[in-house]
Amino acid sequence: MVDTTRGASPGGARSSVPSGRGLAGCTFFPANGGLRGHLRVPGDKSISHRAVLLGAVSDRSVQVEGFLHSADTLATLAAVQALGVAVEDHGHGRLTVHGRGWAGLVEPDNVVDVHNAGTLMRLLPGLVAACPFLVVLTGDASIRRRPMGRVLEPLAAMGATVWARAGDQLPPVGIRGGALRGVRHEMTVSSAQVKSCLLLAGLRASGTTEVIEPGPSRDHTERMIRMGGASVEREGSPTGPGLVRVYPAETLRLPDLAVPGDFSSAAFPLVAALLVPDSELTVEGVGLNPTRTGLLDVLRAMGARLAVMVDAGAPGAEGVGESTGSVTAGSSDLKAVDIGAAHVSLMIDELPIWALAAARAEGVSRLREAGELRVKESDRLSALATLLRALGVRVQEYDDGLDIEGRPEGWASGRIETHHDHRLSMVGAVAGLASRRGVTVDDVTCTNVSFPGFVDTMKKLTGSGRSV
Ligand code: S3P
Repeated sequence: MVDTTRGASPGGARSSVPSGRGLAGCTFFPANGGLRGHLRVPGDKSISHRAVLLGAVSDRSVQVEGFLHSADTLATLAAVQALGVAVEDHGHGRLTVHGRGWAGLVEPDNVVDVHNAGTLMRLLPGLVAACPFLVVLTGDASIRRRPMGRVLEPLAAMGATVWARAGDQLPPVGIRGGALRGVRHEMTVSSAQVKSCLLLAGLRASGTTEVIEPGPSRDHTERMIRMGGASVEREGSPTGPGLVRVYPAETLRLPDLAVPGDFSSAAFPLVAALLVPDSELTVEGVGLNPTRTGLLDVLRAMGARLAVMVDAGAPGAEGVGESTGSVTAGSSDLKAVDIGAAHVSLMIDELPIWALAAARAEGVSRLREAGELRVKESDRLSALATLLRALGVRVQEYDDGLDIEGRPEGWASGRIETHHDHRLSMVGAVAGLASRRGVTVDDVTCTNVSFPGFVDTMKKLTGSGRSV
């Protein structure tokens, strides 16, 4: 049950607000009777960004279905339009991106505002690194704290001219494209954003570009580059370190694209179903790319009741696109688990909701080698420690992780600070559904960054009950 009243308690006065849009605070009440049924989640954010960015340099117009209409991905649409690419938005997640190759891109006549979108901030410099003009990018307060040296330094080594604040580390950033040469770049931390940026630049470089990753990270860019007819390969272990190599391409010719549901969004209702008694919930049409679904392995190791059904004939079956399927979760008694580097990059965006599951598990769960969480939309290690403590959970914070002392008996109530971080807001909502008296979340508007309609979806899932 969801009360979209600012900070109300169940018995308190409430001014009723009809939908999740335009809200600030919200109280989420226990989902008595369990979460049951089937649902679909909005399109995958990572793939939606890439469909538009790669569509913009494709040498044919690309139809996209299932595009995520969210704050982050609309920033990407606006960015390619600023680069001179026509985009038709037919509604209901259907777009036509009228790419005319790299030669169709023009110098934007203003600063490109990425808003809160880290993926756009990291990938766009790679896309334009060989274009003979200037692109300046900035974003919101959270974006202006996020490290950019990790992409700007290798792009400069490839031949682009770059500028940024704080010694070329922080946005705003400027990039003037140049003649690029391929480099071999070794990442100290696995990052799909850094890898993707360099692969996009590598398509326009002379010679090959190689990116060494300490562990696998999401590979949507590689899959889409291959779908466009260019060559990219990965050497190494599928579950360990690897070298990703891209070859220059004169053109990219993308087929029409279908974006699956976002596994990272599905993770919230699925974990809610694990934590709320009498639940059995299925999320359908969700992307099951193995570089994204590390959370499922970890939850299974914790004793979660989960079932996965891969869709027959899904694009993944041909080995070019992304597998999709249904994931069903049922109420479960969880036990603690330890997480290290091997899992972190395969569930980087699911670690916040995993932390809530760990808070209900029997025993102490240890998360390590997850320092990257400090440079996401918020400092997620510190914010998660505060969030869990607000529920009465004992947490020890480390430079690169957390120890979480699980409380299988759950929590009564709490007030959650999100720092305007969409994923923390959704963690707070799930904490409320799984609570005894309700949890107040200070900002739910930020869920529009990745999961528009989140509050309404939660309302529907929990039935009419006490929801407003
Ligand atoms: C993303 C990669 C991840 C993830 C982000 C989206 C992407 O970042 O946290 O939300 O679309 O490539 P890093 O790869 O930098 O960890």
